[in-house]
Amino acid sequence: MAQSLESIPNNVDLSSDRRLQRALEQWQPNFLSWWREVGPDGFQAHQVYLRTAISVEANGWAHFDFVRMPEYRWGIFLEPKSERRIGFGDVMGEPVWEEVPGEHRNALRRIIVTQADTEPASVEQQRLLGRTCPSLYDLRNLFQVNVEEGRHLWAMVYLLHRYFGRDGREEADELLQRRSGSSDKPRILNAFNEPIDDWLSFFMFTMFTDRDGKYQLAALAQSGFDPLARTTRFMLTEEAHHLFVGETGVDRIVQRCAELMGKGLDPRAHGAVPFELLQKYVNLWFSLSLDLFGGEVSSNAADFFAAGLKGRFREDQLEEHKALGKSYRMEVPEGGKLVAQEVPLRNAMNEVLRDEYVKDCQRALDRWNKTLEKNGVKELRLRLPHRRFHRGVGPSAGLFFDPEGQPIAEQEWKAREQQWLPSAEDRTYVRSLMHPVTERGKVASWIAPPPKGINGMPLDFEYVRPPSA
Ligand SMILES: [Fe+2]
Ligand SMILES: [Fe+2]
Repeated sequence: MAQSLESIPNNVDLSSDRRLQRALEQWQPNFLSWWREVGPDGFQAHQVYLRTAISVEANGWAHFDFVRMPEYRWGIFLEPKSERRIGFGDVMGEPVWEEVPGEHRNALRRIIVTQADTEPASVEQQRLLGRTCPSLYDLRNLFQVNVEEGRHLWAMVYLLHRYFGRDGREEADELLQRRSGSSDKPRILNAFNEPIDDWLSFFMFTMFTDRDGKYQLAALAQSGFDPLARTTRFMLTEEAHHLFVGETGVDRIVQRCAELMGKGLDPRAHGAVPFELLQKYVNLWFSLSLDLFGGEVSSNAADFFAAGLKGRFREDQLEEHKALGKSYRMEVPEGGKLVAQEVPLRNAMNEVLRDEYVKDCQRALDRWNKTLEKNGVKELRLRLPHRRFHRGVGPSAGLFFDPEGQPIAEQEWKAREQQWLPSAEDRTYVRSLMHPVTERGKVASWIAPPPKGINGMPLDFEYVRPPSA
């Protein structure tokens, strides 16, 4: 069933580079065994209505058809080359690099490996969700996200193999050896070791954690290393669908809760997710995802910016691109108090990117709150916790803050943690709602139906077909 290299859609002229071709040929069977071992459980032989990128042109990147997942055509696509110059940092105005500059080799490898590691990690985290899908529509969306994360892994592995020689090949092998949640060889970033064993967590993950990915990719899309910039630009087109799945998925759960509350009914009594649980899951996944941006003050971030490796969000639309002689004001915890601090702007680049992310998350919450309002829920509104809340990275890590960001004692945290974050009981309740609904057009009790189908197909379309069909 293994595909041959010729069947890997690509626009990088794979067949002209024998060494690269050999390296990828060796890696490919390992990728497929990884996919079978820890990819979507129980659906490998099903026919899934999937979108496949077959070229980067407007009419080629979204080709829909029924595919068995192990036969998905994981392609390698870079946005076409253009006359680009580096758009920021100390090297601004110089031509972009077609090869990796020696002095940035380690930094670039680390950036690429860290991004690459998240792609297979999320597939592993989500592998059991198919068993409890709320509808065929959602099942198909889950698998679409999974195969595209697989393609993102291919995209990053291509860069490692093509530009980083032997080190790159070793890194590519290790990407298939680490495992989400493993005590022995865990994935690199923490949010990617959290279990995702219910669909509320899946939608929160695709809303908040995939959204971190969008901002990281957008920053790398500005990179002076042109192959990385061109790869991440194309990945962003796929990422948009993952964010859509998350944002609309949560919205539909909010809607179901709101419909019941608006009628004075208790969501719990009707097999839906109650408001306070939605808030707790927002608190958890927002805070875990904030950590992915890195420390508030970071010399690495300053170096990456100065060197032209990683820009700001939409750097090309900003007015100035050096970020010198400016500072960023932030409140930092010091001895139990919050102290205002002026940080050189370049050292605050993680925080600058996090600002964009927080704005985007707030926009989604505003939308969910409209759903509450429209359904007659008057007083309750979802809120993002403060960015100091429940952090594992940066100056707030290891300290205790309430959702408003005020410092509290450890005792108080312990007493109130279960009001703010999902408790074991909450997780059990959410899991108790998870029963598979696989009848065409039917949707589980805890989530509203989507407003429309995929690619113009009706809601009762058979998006996933069993092997016998
Ligand atoms: Fe991805
Ligand atoms: Fe994604």
